[in-house]
Amino acid sequence: MSKRIAFITGISGQDGSYLTEHLLGLGYEVHGIVRRNSVPEHQESRIDHLAKDINVYYGDMLDVVGLKRIIEKIAPDEIYNLAAQSHVRISFEIPDFTAEINALGPLRILEILRELKSGTKFYQASSSEMFGKSVDIDDFQRENTPMRPVSPYGCAKLFGFNITKNYRSAYNLFASNGILFNHESPRRGSNFVTSKVIKTAIQIKLGLKENLVLGNMDSFRDWGHSKDYVKAMHLILQHHAPDDWVVSTGETRSVRDLVSLVFEQLNLNYHDYVIQDDKFMRPEELPFLRGDSTKIRTNLGWSPLISFESMVTEMIDYWYKKLT
Ligand code: GDD
Repeated sequence: MSKRIAFITGISGQDGSYLTEHLLGLGYEVHGIVRRNSVPEHQESRIDHLAKDINVYYGDMLDVVGLKRIIEKIAPDEIYNLAAQSHVRISFEIPDFTAEINALGPLRILEILRELKSGTKFYQASSSEMFGKSVDIDDFQRENTPMRPVSPYGCAKLFGFNITKNYRSAYNLFASNGILFNHESPRRGSNFVTSKVIKTAIQIKLGLKENLVLGNMDSFRDWGHSKDYVKAMHLILQHHAPDDWVVSTGETRSVRDLVSLVFEQLNLNYHDYVIQDDKFMRPEELPFLRGDSTKIRTNLGWSPLISFESMVTEMIDYWYKKLT
C-alpha cells in the first residue's frame, strides 16, 4: 500500500513539529511549508532533527498561488492547517495581519480544496480562545457553548472555525475543527506564559535575572501537553465523518498557581521575585477556560496521558539544561 501523504502548514511550530513526529511514526509521508525568514537558523529549529525525513517548501498563508501549486504537486490525503499568528496579546498590536493569517488563511486552503475536488481531508486548528467570556453553567466550555471572543486572535479564529463548518456543509468537504485548549511543552515559545515563567524562574535561580515581570495572574487556563494534542488532531481526521471536537484536560489552574508551583519546585518564594506590569496586560482578558472533552474521549478514544505536573517538570528540566 502506498504511504498516506500529509501536508502541514505551521510545520516548524510547536504542534507542527510534534505532529510531524507522530505522523512519521505512523508511516506517513510528511510535507510542510515554512515562511522565508531573514534569520534562517531560527526558522526551522524545531524540525531540524527531522529534515532528512520530511519535505519542506517555502510557503505563506498570504500566497494562494504558491499554496495551490504545492497542494496540487503533493496531492495530500490530509491537510493540517496549523499556521497562525498564535499570540493573543500580540493580536491586539497586529490585528489586520492576524486576521489575514488566522481567518483568511483557512479560507484560502478551503477554496483550493473546493476547486480541486481531490477528497483531501482538512483539519483546522481552532482554539478555546474563541469562547471568550462564555462559560456553561457548570463552569466548562464544550462544543455547543456559545462563542464570544474577546481578542482579534479569537475573532479571527472564529471566522476560521465557521468557514470550515460552512465549506463542510455547503460543498461536502471533509473539513473538521479541533477546538484545542492551551497546550505546552519544552518547544513552546518563550513569550507564552508557561515557558516565560519557567525560563525566567530558572534564570533567577541561576542568578541571571532579578525578577519575573507578568501581566494578569488571575486568569485560569486548561493546560495540556502538545504531544497529547497532536494525536487528537490525527484521530479527528480518521473519524468516519467531519465534525468539531473539544480537546482539553478538564482541569483548570490560575497563572498564579502555575507561578507558585514552578517557584516551589526551585525552592524559591515567588512573592520575592514576581512583579506585575500593565505592559503584559491585554486590552480585554479571557478570564477562565476549562474544557469538557467528553465527546472526543467517548467517540475517538482520545485522552491526555501527560499530567500538568510532569509537563512542568519536563519543561523545567529542558530550560535548566539549556541555560546551564
Ligand atoms: N504570554 C503571557 N505573558 N501571558 C501572560 C503574562 C505574560 O507575561 N502574564 C500573564 N499572562 C496571562 C495571559 O493574560 C493569559 O491569561 C494567560 O497568561 C495565558 O497566556 P498565554 O500563555 O499567552 O496563552 P493564551 O491563553 O493567551 O493563548 C494560548 O492558548 C490559546 C488556546 O486557548 C495560545 O497558544 C493560543 O494560540 C491558543 O489558541
